[in-house]
Amino acid sequence: MSKKFSSILAILVVFAMLLSACKTAATPEAAEPAAEEETALAVGIVLPTKDEPRWIQDETRFTDALTAAGYNVEILFSQGDSAKEKANVESLISKGVKVLIICPQDGTAAAAAAEEAHAAGVKVISYDRLIRDTDAVDYYVTFDSIAVGAQQAQYLVDHATGTGNPLYLYAGAASDNNAFLFFEGAWNVLQPKIADGTFVIKNSSEAVALQDKATLTREEMSKIIGQVTTNWDFAVAKNLAEANLTAATTADKGNVFILAPNDGTARSIADVFAVDPDVTSYYVTGQDAEQASVQYIIDGKQSMTVWKDVRTLVSDAIAAAVALLKGEEPASRGSYNNGVIDVPAIQSNVTTVDKANVKETLIDSGYYDASLFTGL
Ligand code: BGC
Repeated sequence: MSKKFSSILAILVVFAMLLSACKTAATPEAAEPAAEEETALAVGIVLPTKDEPRWIQDETRFTDALTAAGYNVEILFSQGDSAKEKANVESLISKGVKVLIICPQDGTAAAAAAEEAHAAGVKVISYDRLIRDTDAVDYYVTFDSIAVGAQQAQYLVDHATGTGNPLYLYAGAASDNNAFLFFEGAWNVLQPKIADGTFVIKNSSEAVALQDKATLTREEMSKIIGQVTTNWDFAVAKNLAEANLTAATTADKGNVFILAPNDGTARSIADVFAVDPDVTSYYVTGQDAEQASVQYIIDGKQSMTVWKDVRTLVSDAIAAAVALLKGEEPASRGSYNNGVIDVPAIQSNVTTVDKANVKETLIDSGYYDASLFTGL
């Protein structure tokens, strides 16, 4: 049996389970008026924004999987706005969802929406990003975010020789718990290489002040992130990179190393560094294997990405939803503390992709079609 066929089969099996679980969960309400309409929507999904290709990937993979099973689930986008996110959750509650799969725009602000869902008897699955500071989260499906940061940093380390290499640090949004995990993973790998002189931090006085500390507290990371945040926004990333290069001297440039937190910001930052005449070459990291960044990697404009196979996250989320609909505990391996409780979690591995393995990992595996790219 081919790999592709067996994974399609696996998805179909999960959806057959989902369908039957939805029917089971619907039984107690079968006598209620308008029950059919309500129970048609046992699971609702809320994603952060349509403006970033990462979340369009998730939407596409959810839709692919759900369409294959002939099942209709509503996917709503919050467009970077916690108030809209809350309204989305309320709308799904009023439509009778039993399980909410939600990727919060702002991890702490989403606690109110999660609590509202819980109060209505809806189970809450935190998807990719952790909802913080509430006990109203039943389960967390995520990638290994510490490993994402570690792989980004390791790529920079592996391509640096000698000492005094200029290092520019950038981070995600402080409202996203993942931004801390990515940064922590990167710091674990970079800090010893800053301490031994391989890298010299050029764009963060807060990071320089903490560069002798192997492990940072959340508060210490907050200080650095506050200075180098992109807010996950391409325009913010571009402006910050421009400001950093304007402030830097010629000696701070040359062959530079850039920790960029994800693909969207990596492309913005790379475009800025590429046009600076004093930057002779650069290495820049990313994550998400967005289509545009895959092309950047093929073209030599972005050095690497960390591929997070969204299909795995989607199927883990669906398996968890099925279990919760049946009144069972979803399978978990470990937990994440959200500031109030340890949320049972399942975590997926991630893969470093650069020009050398892009075809093998992303095209030959069937994740992307070769026709989407030029120069493969
Ligand atoms: C996700 C990344 C994404 C970033 C910006 C993070 O929480 O894990 O995949 O690039 O948010 O949307």
